Amino acid sequence: MSVSFSSSPVAGSARLLPGGPVADRILAEVAEGVAALRAAGVVPTLATVLVGDDDASVGYIRIKQRQAAELGFASPHVRLPASATQADLHRVLADFNDDAGVHAVLVQHPVPGHLDYDRALQVLDPDSDVDGMHPVNMGRLALGLPGPLPCTPAGIEALLAFHGVPVAGREVVVLGRGATLGRPLAMLLAQKRPTANAAVTVVHTGVADWPRYTRRAEILVAAVGVPGIVRPEHVRPGAVVVGGGVRYAGRRLLPDVDESCARVAGAITPRVGGVGPTTVAMLFRNAWWAARRAAGRG
Ligand SMILES: NC(=O)c1ccc[n+]([C@@H]2O[C@H](COP(=O)([O-])OP(=O)(O)OC[C@H]3O[C@@H](n4cnc5c(N)ncnc54)[C@H](OP(=O)(O)O)[C@@H]3O)[C@@H](O)[C@H]2O)c1
Repeated sequence: MSVSFSSSPVAGSARLLPGGPVADRILAEVAEGVAALRAAGVVPTLATVLVGDDDASVGYIRIKQRQAAELGFASPHVRLPASATQADLHRVLADFNDDAGVHAVLVQHPVPGHLDYDRALQVLDPDSDVDGMHPVNMGRLALGLPGPLPCTPAGIEALLAFHGVPVAGREVVVLGRGATLGRPLAMLLAQKRPTANAAVTVVHTGVADWPRYTRRAEILVAAVGVPGIVRPEHVRPGAVVVGGGVRYAGRRLLPDVDESCARVAGAITPRVGGVGPTTVAMLFRNAWWAARRAAGRG
């Protein structure tokens, strides 16, 4: 079913745009692709690195390893103690770079406060970067060159396409210009491609009257990290609203988009299970692509 933009929605009628089915479809494609590589004698390998013993990070990496195994990846793991130095982390990444059998590398973040994740990322071979956040990959994105894509933005494009939300030629407003989400998403959705090709505007703290822009958006993406910042009065009636920004209070997830926006929006991502599942799916898609490229099949 596709989504159309309505100027007179029925209150409370917003259609939900869950990420789960989108992720399932992407992961099925990844599993098929991984199996094909294995059949051709290549074992797609996604290495994971964890520094320290933060409970949440230990849990996240375990889930990703289990999912990697289910998809058919080999998944060597290195765990460094919380006392590891920046040089220790760089050494692990350099060793993975030198190992032709390792196609993709995931560094679980956040890393302990004394370490610099961004600096570590720069040590990694850009082609192995499953987060798509290496400066070379951001440059590739800006130039429209192939490479691993930042996971959350790529997941949002996939989510909109899956749910039949027309993006091409539409007015998209992205609230937030952060490096993980707003900025790369704006670049992605402005690219010349049927699932993108939008008129994209980015607003932030430098635009005091940002509601003036969000109120005219046919698609509004919240990419801020300020709970409840997007309220019904910021949404054009009938618009598609995508909640990307979140903050955590302990284990509780606090989204940018206030739930009451569903009264005004035509379609909206759910509070939980929106862009989270598609982000993870894109990580595995990047890992599969990395293996395919390394095998000369990308
Ligand atoms: N769901 C997921 O899987 C997922 C994945 C990645 C990121 N995220 C979330 O996405 C959000 C953005 O992450 P990020 O790293 O890209 O961004 P970031 O670096 O934290 O930047 C936040 C952006 O929001 C803007 N902003 C903050 N307060 C504002 C306000 N009151 N009014 C207008 N603009 C405001 C900032 O403006 P200035 O530039 O002017 O300071 C900045 O551009 C975070 O909540 C993050 O947790 C979610």
